[in-house]
Amino acid sequence: MPIKVILVAGARPNFMKIAPLWMEIKRFPSDFEPIILHTGQHYDYEMSKAFFEDLDLPEPEYFLDVGSGTHAEQTGKIMVEFEKVLQKENPHLVVVFGDVNSTLACSVTAKKLFVPVAHVEAGLRSSDMTMPEEINRKVTDAISDILFTPSKDGDENLIREGIERNRIHMVGNIMIDSLVSILKKIDHSYEDAVFQKCALQRNHFVLVTLHRPSNVDDKKSLGTIMKFLDTLSLRMPVIFPVHPRTKKNIKGIDKDFVSNSQFKVLEPLRYKEFITLEKYSTFVLTDSGGIQEETTFLNIPCLTLRPNTERPITITEGTNELVSMASIEEKMDLISLGKWKQGKIPEFWDGKTAQRIADILKGMEI
Ligand code: UD1
Repeated sequence: MPIKVILVAGARPNFMKIAPLWMEIKRFPSDFEPIILHTGQHYDYEMSKAFFEDLDLPEPEYFLDVGSGTHAEQTGKIMVEFEKVLQKENPHLVVVFGDVNSTLACSVTAKKLFVPVAHVEAGLRSSDMTMPEEINRKVTDAISDILFTPSKDGDENLIREGIERNRIHMVGNIMIDSLVSILKKIDHSYEDAVFQKCALQRNHFVLVTLHRPSNVDDKKSLGTIMKFLDTLSLRMPVIFPVHPRTKKNIKGIDKDFVSNSQFKVLEPLRYKEFITLEKYSTFVLTDSGGIQEETTFLNIPCLTLRPNTERPITITEGTNELVSMASIEEKMDLISLGKWKQGKIPEFWDGKTAQRIADILKGMEI
């Protein structure tokens, strides 16, 4: 009998993680019966549907339509709705991805109904309990039955927290599977169209993404960042696709900080467009987790505007460095002098992570 498995996605970074696994297990109908469930944590077209399109994902079987709210409201709504789906479907396994509220909500709900849970991207730790994602990671890992880690530091963290070794599987980074496959779909004429649309030239611009509460929820710190980016754009074009969370807080102040046409503040980009820009950026300034990983794979310098990262391998092996507003100029100088470190691609970040996960699941009694 095939394993009936619900794959849970909720927010933008989940979509690139669910797609490769769905595609892989779909190839083995006698082993797996996959069901895609979208909680609706992210719901705007640019944050959700556009990603399903670029990733060739079908419409989800279930859309819980939970929308925004406080953490408790969002998490609670997902749990209530997901419980109904579990009762109806009675799956053999639930697979959750990453560290968003949907990950925590669905893993807890499944476990309480005795449904086994697998967590893809387990073991990452920032040790910063002020991040909601860190709470989501720790709770999800503590209760998951199968833990798929992207890198060795993930295994070490889990073992330190007392998780049995036989539940941990280092399979590599599933987001790189999506990156590898989208890169194959980006040809020269598509790239030309993106650069024309954005009025940019290859290898001569800075790509910025910021959405962490610590950077964008306080108007004063967001204002300082915007002023810095505007000044930077006088030297080199800056393109800043703005996440809805940031947009809310930027409203009313964006015009004050955009003094010239080289500072391009835009709506969120599609996955394919974003990767095209990332591939040719001089450097990336971000506070996203996934972008630290993509830039390591693409060998693009990445400045992460955060005091910590749950993805230390992107620093020790890759092209990433943590920065603050105080150290950013110094780091940018290294890039412009061509003195940025050379990274390497971590083990198993090779586009075959979904295959490894499917092989492991096939060999298990679930
Ligand atoms: C969530 C994740 C974060 C991830 C990020 C990627 C949690 C705790 N956080 O943060 O880990 O890096 O997604 O994008 O799960 N909004 C819209 N349209 C949308 C989605 C959100 O307008 O499609 C607005 C809502 O008003 C909401 C705000 O953006 O209040 C933030 O959304 P939310 O899902 O709460 O958290 P993110 O900051 O997006």
